[in-house]
Parts: sequence; C-alpha cells; structure tokens
Amino acid sequence: MSPPRILVTGHLGFIGSNFCRLFANRYSFVGIDYRGWGSLPRNLEPGVEDLNVDLADETRVREALARFRFDAIVHFAAESHVDRSIQDDRHFWSSNVYGTRTLAKLAGERKVRLVHVSTDEVYGDALESQAAWTEASATRPQNPYSVTKAAAEMMLLAYRRATPFDLVITRGANTIGPRQFPEKALPKAVDSFAKGRSFPLYRTPARRMWLYVDDHCRGVHAALEKGVSGEIYNIGPRPENEVYTHEVIEHVRKRVGRGNVQEVEDRKGYDLRYWMDSSKAKRELGWEAEVAWQAAVDRSVDWYLANPDWLAEAGRRSD
Ligand SMILES: NC(=O)c1ccc[n+]([C@@H]2O[C@H](COP(=O)([O-])OP(=O)(O)OC[C@H]3O[C@@H](n4cnc5c(N)ncnc54)[C@H](O)[C@@H]3O)[C@@H](O)[C@H]2O)c1
Repeated sequence: MSPPRILVTGHLGFIGSNFCRLFANRYSFVGIDYRGWGSLPRNLEPGVEDLNVDLADETRVREALARFRFDAIVHFAAESHVDRSIQDDRHFWSSNVYGTRTLAKLAGERKVRLVHVSTDEVYGDALESQAAWTEASATRPQNPYSVTKAAAEMMLLAYRRATPFDLVITRGANTIGPRQFPEKALPKAVDSFAKGRSFPLYRTPARRMWLYVDDHCRGVHAALEKGVSGEIYNIGPRPENEVYTHEVIEHVRKRVGRGNVQEVEDRKGYDLRYWMDSSKAKRELGWEAEVAWQAAVDRSVDWYLANPDWLAEAGRRSD
C-alpha cells in the first residue's frame, strides 16, 4: 500500500524542510514553495515533489495540483521575518493571508484536513501578563508579521464557520535548529562569532521559550494525527526552556569558542516576553517537547559549524 500523501507548503524553508526530513519514511510529500526569503533549493528533501508556485496565485496552485491526490495539507509557508515586515509588509499579506486563503478553499473542496502552522507571536507581549497564555487567551499581535498570522487564523476560523472544513491550528514557540536563515538570532550569532565579528544584541533583556525544531515538527504532526477539528494547540517547550536571549547568545558564543556581543537599540515593536502554556497539547495530543534549551542550542550550533557552505549560501540569499 502506498503511504499517505501530504501537501506540505514551505518545504524549502526552515521548519518545513525539517518536517519533511523527519517524516520522510512515513509519508509521500508534494511540496509547494515559491523559493522566497527563508528558502534554499538545497533544503529539498530527496523524494519530495517540488512545485515552485506562489500560494497567493490561486489559479496557478490549482493548475499545479490538478494531477495530485493528497490526504492532508500541512501549511508552513509564510513570510516570517519580523524586521522585514516592519520595513515592508506587502508580501506578508499576500503570502500569509491570501496564500492561506487558497489552501482553505482547497481543503474544503478536496475534503482533507488543513493543519495551519501559526505562531505564539499572535498573543503579543506577555511582559505584563499574570499567567502563561492558553489557547483561550486574547490575541494582541504587535508587529506586522504577527498581525498577518493572526489575520490568517481569524480568516480560517470564520471560513470554517460559514462552510465547515477540517481545520487544526498550531501556535508554535520560538524555534531553533538546522537550516534557519542567518537573519534570525541563533544562526546569525554563530555566523558572527565564527567570523570574529560582534553580534548585535538588542539592549532590553527579552525572554523567549526556546523550542527545538524536531519538537515543533512532532507537535505539528501530533496535531495532524490527533487534533480535534476547529481546535487550536499551543506548541511550546517546557517552562524551564524560557530563557533570556542574552543567556542563549552567551551559550552560543562559548560553544563557538570566540566572538563578542555589542548592544544595539531595540527593534521597533520588540516583544519582551512570549509565555505559553502547552498543557492542552500534552493532554489532548499526547505531545510534549523533549529537548532542553542547552541541548537545542548545542545541536543547532554544531550543525551550522559543520555546514559552513549552507550558512554562506543562506547569508548571500538573505542579503
Ligand atoms: N521560526 C520560528 O521560530 C517559528 C515559530 C512559530 C511558528 N512559525 C511558523 O512556522 C512556519 C514556518 O516558519 P519558518 O521559520 O520555517 O519560515 P521560513 O521563512 O524559513 O520558511 C518559509 C517558507 O515558505 C515559503 N513561502 C513563503 N511565502 C510563500 C508563498 N506565497 N508561496 C509559496 N511559498 C511561500 C518560503 O519560500 C520559505 O521557503 C511559518 O508559518 C511561521 O509563521 C515559525
């Protein structure tokens, strides 16, 4: 019997490529990725059908998929870099909202489950919060990227109310691991330290819940297999993985063995704390993150140091 086929979007980006690698033996994948920011062709997992299409172009997506049957959609593709969204958010609306709209329509027509991969950034900033966010907490996105992610979620839930289709939403925490573009903090720190340059650290201390990419992918997979339709699941690490960014960067610096840090002005709309409770996913999906933050950082740093060609190519593409 042939394995179930999953339509995966953003399979050439950071989390999507790791998802394909992790579950390559279990599924056959058809991938859609328009080779934008965050993607590298060399991230393509062998055996994945690679369709170079913009999800926002509904007509072209339909043409490209006409010859494929698939059993579910796992939707990673998004414009995901906060600083870029602050400079110009047009592509963010196009990919994150219109792209998602195309997939909602397809999921309804083909009667397949859509797992929409969203982010803890939709909750906003937890600095003043008294308790960790649950899925029932209000969403208060604070930058253009997270606004488009929250808009996509609202659109999906409203579409589902009007025309029921099988939808599960995951809200992932700050993720690290191999194949993340070097504009994001951890690979940027490795790159800077390895080249003997200083790493620009935002002045105000900020906390993040550091989630290893394999844990994130397993959480998304648990939502695909066991999620209740219409539900949202927080996919975050254990509480002890909540650590200040400057501590993580110092851990990276020691692991690389050289380099220094230079404090710089905070970015506009800089969120100081993301604080998420993932007990619903543990209770209802049987999923729990496993990797401690130190191990997650070590594995990530070691991968970048062992793959300098990848880092150099990604650095050229993100310039
Ligand atoms: N990285 C994190 O820390 C994190 C945390 C929580 C949630 N998420 C979510 O996970 C998903 C994946 O994030 P990532 O870090 O892997 O991002 P990424 O930027 O590394 O990869 C995104 C991929 O989507 C593709 N893409 C973007 N717009 C597209 C379009 N219109 N049509 C086709 N392809 C398109 C890009 O080419 C790229 O390959 C995103 O939805 C993001 O919001 C990320």
